[in-house]
Amino acid sequence: MSDDATRNAGASGKDGDSASTQPAAAGAEAAAIKKKPKGSAFDEASRELLWRFMQDWVFPRWRELIWALVLMTCLAAVTGGYPMIIKLSFDTLMQSAGSNLLVVLGGILSITMLRSVFLYLQTVTTQRIVTRMATDMQKKAFTHLISADFARLSRETPGRLLSRLTNDINFIQTALQASLNTAVRDVLMVIALVASMIYLDPLMSLFVLGVYPVAALPIALISERLRKVAKQTQSELADMTSMLSENLGGTRLIKTFRLEDYTSQRMHGSFEDVFRLKMKAVRNRAKLDPILEALGGLAVAGVIAFAYWRIANGISTVGDFMGFVTALLMAAQPIRALGNLTGRVQEGLAAAESLYGLIDEEPAIVDRPGARPIAITHGTIRFENVSFGYEQSADRDAVIDFTLDVPGGSTVALVGRSGAGKSTIINLVPRLFDVTGGRILIDGQDIRDVTLASLRGSIALVSQDVTMFDDSIRANIELGRLDASEDEIIAAATAAAAHEFILEQPQGYDTRIGASGLRLSGGQRQRLALARAILKDSPVLLLDEATSALDTQSEQLVQEALTNFTVNRTTLVIAHRLSTIQNADLICVMEDGRLVETGRHADLIARNGAYAGLARGTEFSRSGSADDEEVSESRQDA
Ligand SMILES: Nc1ncnc2c1ncn2[C@@H]1O[C@H](COP(=O)(O)OP(=O)(O)OP(=O)(O)O)[C@@H](O)[C@H]1O
Ligand SMILES: [Mg+2]
Repeated sequence: MSDDATRNAGASGKDGDSASTQPAAAGAEAAAIKKKPKGSAFDEASRELLWRFMQDWVFPRWRELIWALVLMTCLAAVTGGYPMIIKLSFDTLMQSAGSNLLVVLGGILSITMLRSVFLYLQTVTTQRIVTRMATDMQKKAFTHLISADFARLSRETPGRLLSRLTNDINFIQTALQASLNTAVRDVLMVIALVASMIYLDPLMSLFVLGVYPVAALPIALISERLRKVAKQTQSELADMTSMLSENLGGTRLIKTFRLEDYTSQRMHGSFEDVFRLKMKAVRNRAKLDPILEALGGLAVAGVIAFAYWRIANGISTVGDFMGFVTALLMAAQPIRALGNLTGRVQEGLAAAESLYGLIDEEPAIVDRPGARPIAITHGTIRFENVSFGYEQSADRDAVIDFTLDVPGGSTVALVGRSGAGKSTIINLVPRLFDVTGGRILIDGQDIRDVTLASLRGSIALVSQDVTMFDDSIRANIELGRLDASEDEIIAAATAAAAHEFILEQPQGYDTRIGASGLRLSGGQRQRLALARAILKDSPVLLLDEATSALDTQSEQLVQEALTNFTVNRTTLVIAHRLSTIQNADLICVMEDGRLVETGRHADLIARNGAYAGLARGTEFSRSGSADDEEVSESRQDA
């Protein structure tokens, strides 16, 4: 999107009062604006924000900024010479003194040439500064965001975060650009032009300069309104981006449930909302121009009347007058830009606020002071009265008073109905979330006392929803250990029973697998995820339904491979299939967040408790998914 398209957003009609014709949200917004005491366009908070922004992003670039300033000063100086050369040329023409003509022509040519050279250099320099700042902001914001807590990242949709990193930073870039070009370059030009005006006719300058301050008040009022609109627009843009990415990512659902019309309508609604807000800003911004235009007209008319009288009385020359008018006309554009500047800056400030909101959020799950790397000897995991509740469902804990010893090197299976809290337990081990009660110890060390990097480095997790990037198969496996060799990658793929199907792909290990691995089957994706975990070769392995999508045969292959791999590796495995669980050293049954039964398969069946119930009931299938269907079919028949 071009800067203009982004900016030329906007809204209300004649002024804020026309808000009654706008939907409710905009009406409330306009009301809020009216209630607010009207004062300067920059309140205390904006000034603080601006100051912080300057310190963080602008001041560190002082060297380049000084260079830009030098270029701008040259540009302004040359610009200030323009009215002089005009005066000279008119005086020359009126006196028809040919001797000066060459000087005049040479002057005009050199001034225009110099101006274009400086203008070019200055444009490139400021653009480079501003674009670099925006890029640095993106880097900083992304790095911060990606290190944020898992809970924080899952709180906001990827689309909204995407928008904050792109749209919002665009607004900031536009504002920065306008600030450098207008607040500095245009101000310098106006100063130079005013200087030449004063030189040409001090009295007339006084009159002209008296006109412009009148514009200050309406500009302040309008720019305050613009800030509100900008905030709304940015939030709505974020929603739109979020919805777009969700819908475009869910095309299978949309096609099969024939939701094209439904999603189109929802999207159109969002597009319209953004349109409405953009027009609101456009209208507000457009109000500034007529004000400045009218003032310009007033100034020019005044100057002409005044000059007529003065030339008639022989006080000044036609050259003086022409030079003066040239200066006035040349100053009109930068002055107008100055009038528009506050609006742009307000939009940028709104975006900067959002950016800082993101950067200022400190992750809660961090290394404690003095945290040491984890020392793993046996890989024993001990859950001690662990409780945990998700932020969003504070009234009901997902895990309640869970106590379990997982002996080092053993394989422990977690079973239970859907929603029993199995995945939650597994996510607590690498501290994706921190326990709210009790503690988790690995080889006697509270996982909150060791460094996050070492903790996560010693755990390989295959989660229920497999994550794949749109990259080659090799690259996706390599994520397990970025410095792995080709042989290690192939060995891991073989252990996960993936090597064969990978070779069948068009480009083997180099085959790109599409967004989220869309070009692979569910079972193939799972095997790649397993290969990735195997490649990591960590002492603790967490498998959350890692083989649920595999057919009986592939599952058997994977099970055999895993049996070798899990020797002497502490493994926590969640599965719904008897075949996966049967051979576990210990089976733990969970119900509603609590541990209700532990034991080996045969003992638990003999006990005829919760596990036996699960084994008998529909929760477990004997083996593959094919059997699943058979079981349910035969049940229906019966
Ligand atoms: N991110 C979350 N925010 C809020 N509640 C959650 C979140 N994830 C899970 N829950 C809730 O926590 C409970 C336990 O969920 P969990 O994912 O641990 O179940 P599970 O035993 O793994 O189930 P399944 O076998 O279906 O995977 C459920 O009631 C679920 O609704
Ligand atoms: Mg689960």
